[in-house]
Amino acid sequence: LVINFKLMSSFNQYKESYQEGKTLPQDFYTDESIFSEEMKQIYFKQWLMVDHISRIPNPGDYFVFEAEKESIIVIRGRDNEIRAFYNVCTHRGSRICLDEEGSKKLLVCPYHAWSFSAEGELKAARHMPDDFKMEDYGLKNCHIKIYEGLIFINLSLDDPMDFDEFMSPLKELVNFHGTGKSKIAARKKYPTDANFKLVLENFQECYHCSNAHPEFSSVHEKDWVYTMGAGLGTAPEKDTDEYLKKIRPWIESCKKQGTPSETYLETDEGLRKGLNRYFDRTPIGNGHLSQTKNGKPASKLMGKFKEFDGGLSQVSFNPFSCCYFTNDFGIMFVFKPDSILKSEVELIWLVNEDAEEGKDYNPDDVTYIWDVTTQEDTTIIENNQKGLLSQSFSPGVLSQNESAVTYFYNWYFTNMQSS
Ligand code: FES
Ligand code: FE
Repeated sequence: LVINFKLMSSFNQYKESYQEGKTLPQDFYTDESIFSEEMKQIYFKQWLMVDHISRIPNPGDYFVFEAEKESIIVIRGRDNEIRAFYNVCTHRGSRICLDEEGSKKLLVCPYHAWSFSAEGELKAARHMPDDFKMEDYGLKNCHIKIYEGLIFINLSLDDPMDFDEFMSPLKELVNFHGTGKSKIAARKKYPTDANFKLVLENFQECYHCSNAHPEFSSVHEKDWVYTMGAGLGTAPEKDTDEYLKKIRPWIESCKKQGTPSETYLETDEGLRKGLNRYFDRTPIGNGHLSQTKNGKPASKLMGKFKEFDGGLSQVSFNPFSCCYFTNDFGIMFVFKPDSILKSEVELIWLVNEDAEEGKDYNPDDVTYIWDVTTQEDTTIIENNQKGLLSQSFSPGVLSQNESAVTYFYNWYFTNMQSS
């Protein structure tokens, strides 16, 4: 209690020095006690999108998801059900799975060889006392839910927020894009030497795009990058209105075709509960049909699309879990805090499960834009972190094109103070 009181008083002190419209003060990025509280109050409470079911198609297939100090085994059981367990041996706590992925009939701990089934039951433990009950020492469950092929976990030790309620406004759009009938075309990891908030803040604004992302900016139309690059409402209203007027014919044709063109902004009630969901769907522009180097499709149509309409959906389940969808592929963005000054961004590209590599798609075409863009993001975020650690740093004023950063801070404070 004393420690918590001390923590909250330093947190409140930092918060008092925060001025709306500016970036957060330096202490928010350097105080270890704040980082561990952020994990408990924010990261461990959200439903985190971690991967796609096509990574583990057969019984015994597993992968390990790692973030902060946690390591989670996601494994398909013999009954075909996908479960998640803490990668912590119930004997003396060793990590059990040391490989990132694999396929196993039994998970054998490398320390004293306790063995667990793919359903998490303890199956073998040598020389134990007579009264030892195997059934009391199964692996500890981690909350897991799957929606249309997307795997979500929740690291809360208590009951997590209701998954259906969390997912409900996003279901229709995700469903339209056919993630449940897709497969992984590629994955890449981008380790980033920066606090996770800098990684997330960068994803909340496209003020940097025209400058830092020449490839991304040449695929999209300039006014899209300015008004929609970081989502609706991130540019001054009159500029956004002008852009929306321009794309009205495209929206009308979506309505006629029965394809999505709606926008979802988090409700006040959702915000109070610590939620931060978003989606929109707009045209890529420049006559481009997909988010590729030359604007041409890179794979087969996905989901319920009958033809290419050049749309792009931006979906955010929460700031740690986002997806982009074109007509022919999807990109899952998984943002992971590692330690106070280390994060990892993982990108997973999805294509139609019927698409054949080499015939219908080439992974290099599918990954091009977001691979190059994320490499550029990694560099600008790491530079941001370096400068922010200087004794000379003081919070700067956010532009009119970075309002979603302030929105992100508001979400952050709501969660941090809900304890
Ligand atoms: Fe796993 Fe001993 S710690 S068997
Ligand atoms: Fe960027």
